[in-house]
Formats: sequence, structure tokens, C-alpha cells
Amino acid sequence: MNVLGIETSCDETAAAVAAGPRDIRSSVIFSQVELHGPYGGVVPEIASRCHVDSLPGVIDEAMRTSGMAWSDLDAIAVTHGPGLASSLLVGMATAKGLALRLGIRLCASNHLEGHIYSLFLAGGAPGIEEACPFVALVVSGGHTCLVRVEGLGKYGLLGQTIDDAAGEAFDKGASLLKLGYPGGPVIDRVARGGNPGSVRFPRGRVRPGPGLEGLNPDLCFSFSGLKTALLYHLRDNPAEGNPARTADVAASYQQAIISALVERCDAALRDGDRCIGACGGVSLNSALRARLGELAARRGIRLLLAEPKHCGDNAAMIAGLAAAGRGIWDETAFLADADPSLPVC
Ligand code: KG4
Ligand code: ZN
Repeated sequence: MNVLGIETSCDETAAAVAAGPRDIRSSVIFSQVELHGPYGGVVPEIASRCHVDSLPGVIDEAMRTSGMAWSDLDAIAVTHGPGLASSLLVGMATAKGLALRLGIRLCASNHLEGHIYSLFLAGGAPGIEEACPFVALVVSGGHTCLVRVEGLGKYGLLGQTIDDAAGEAFDKGASLLKLGYPGGPVIDRVARGGNPGSVRFPRGRVRPGPGLEGLNPDLCFSFSGLKTALLYHLRDNPAEGNPARTADVAASYQQAIISALVERCDAALRDGDRCIGACGGVSLNSALRARLGELAARRGIRLLLAEPKHCGDNAAMIAGLAAAGRGIWDETAFLADADPSLPVC
């Protein structure tokens, strides 16, 4: 099945063509990061306007570089949630219009399932059935959750953040450290020259209580206290203008985020699990990748990582997932609305 995938859930305008579940023929991503940089985070109104402007060109480019003609397509797949409502709507309206015009099938896809699926687009990745059961850490600027994967479409939510996403913690931390936006890549780089043991930041344990919706608090995350701890630390120990201190604080702050992620992964794994997977923008973090590698080696399981080009938001994961038959199809997809808080299962 040949699928054109469209992804506009946040601040990346993306389109891709798949000729089968793992056969990605083209993938185009237009990042809006420079537009949002001055605001230190994604501004929904700017994001949706930019999707309107750039999506037609991004789709054209994806079609052109795929080597396919419009008449070769069997379906259009589009992310319908979770994400920013006004951003999702641009992709959905475009996908519905195109599918109607071309007289082909429409598929509405789950963005979080797409991120998990991105693990299987990597060269050398096992088949999904071969990797199962496994635990997936979905970690980005908008999401932080742990998912048990028993098969394609068989997911169980194990834990999630009760406040900020890990990527938000990186972005807000970098802003407090005056390192710029987006924070993840710059903290990753600056932290390499610092001592991660120099400041002891909290690991954000979650207490049992309301709001967890039956999830195990030991598998949930909280990053808002960490951000406040950094604020107070910098107030009492200013680091501005002191690159060595900035590197130490950045390394310690990054260590706190990563330890929280890796410790929850460790706690989520059960005997018989074959892999631990990490996907989403934050899974690009070099220290996180190294720590997950150590965890996988210690537990005797395989580490699954998405390729860097498939870590951040992309449409290849949406096209591939639809080509694998997942998602909401046809009439139900035409009737589907954008669902900003769509859960993974
Ligand atoms: O998946 P993504 O591109 O978009 C969302 O769906 O949010 O993730 C973006 C997030 C940002 O918060 C960014 O700071 C973070 O991923 N990020 C990183 C790294 N590269 C990007 N975080 C830590 N280390 C990195 N190397
Ligand atoms: Zn995402």
C-alpha cells in the first residue's frame, strides 16, 4: 500500500510517502523552531498559521522526492491527536480534502503510536512481533510516558508525567541557564563539559494520590519541582558568565532528568521483556542513550532507538503505521475530529 503521511501535531510541518510498513520513500520535515525561538516555546497560533503556509510545499516536496505520482497513492494518513488542536486541524483538513479529491482511503493516526512505531523504521531494527513484549519510553517536548507493547496495536499505559514533559524540563532549564531554545540539544552539548555530580537536584518522585488514574506512582514522572529547584539554585549560586559552573549545573540538571527516566524504565521492565525502546525528541539525548544502553546490558535485553531523523516529529512514522494497517480508516476517519488529548491506548 502506498501512503502519503501528514503530521502537523505541534511545530513541525511534515509529509512522507511509504510504499509499505517499513519502506519509506520520502520524508520532508519543515521545522518552525526559529519562529518559536524568541518566545522560548511553541506558540500555538504561530504554529497553526505556519502549517497553513508551509504544508502544501512540504507535501509537494514529499511527493516529488518519493518518485511516485498522485495516482500511485492508495491512502492519505494524518495525525489526529494528541497535539495542539489548531495545528492538528490544518493537517486533518488538508488530508480529508486530498483523500476526497483523489478518491482514495483516509487514515487518522495516533501520534504517540507513531513515535513507538518509529523504532521499527530504523535500519537493523527487529520486527515488532520479534521485539515484543517490550517497554517503550516516549519522551518529547509534549509527552513523557511509559508504554508496555505486546504487539502492533496492543499497548498498555504504565506511567506518564503528572506535570511537565521531559523536553519541557530541558527547554525551561536551558532558559533559566540562559542557553537558548530549544534547550535539549544545547544542554546535551554544554553538559558534556560539566560534572553531573556537582549539584544534587531532586528526582521528582510521584506520591500516590488522586490524578494518577490508577497508574503506579513509581512509574510516573514529575519535572516541575526540578525546574523550581534549578531556579532557586541559580538565584543562590549565579552561574551566568561562568561557563565552567554553567556546564556543571547543566550536567547535574540533565542527570536528574535522565536518572528519573532511566529509573522508571528499569522499574517498568518485567522478566520476559525483550527490549527497552526510546523514541521522541528527547531520545536524541546522548547521555540518555548511553544510560539506556547500560540498562539494557544489565538486564540482558535489546535497546531499540529510533534513527535521529525519526526521533523528533516526522510523517514517516505516520505513513508507515498506516501502511501497517493501523489507525482509524475511511468513513470513521472522515468523521474524526482533532483530539488534542488522545491517549496512546
Ligand atoms: O519530538 P519533538 O521534536 O517534538 C515534540 O513532539 O515535542 O521533541 C522536541 C523536544 C524539545 O523539548 C527538545 O528540547 C528536545 O526534544 N530535545 C532534546 C534533545 N534534542 C531535542 N532533549 C534532550 N537532549 C537532546 N539532544
Ligand atoms: Zn511528537
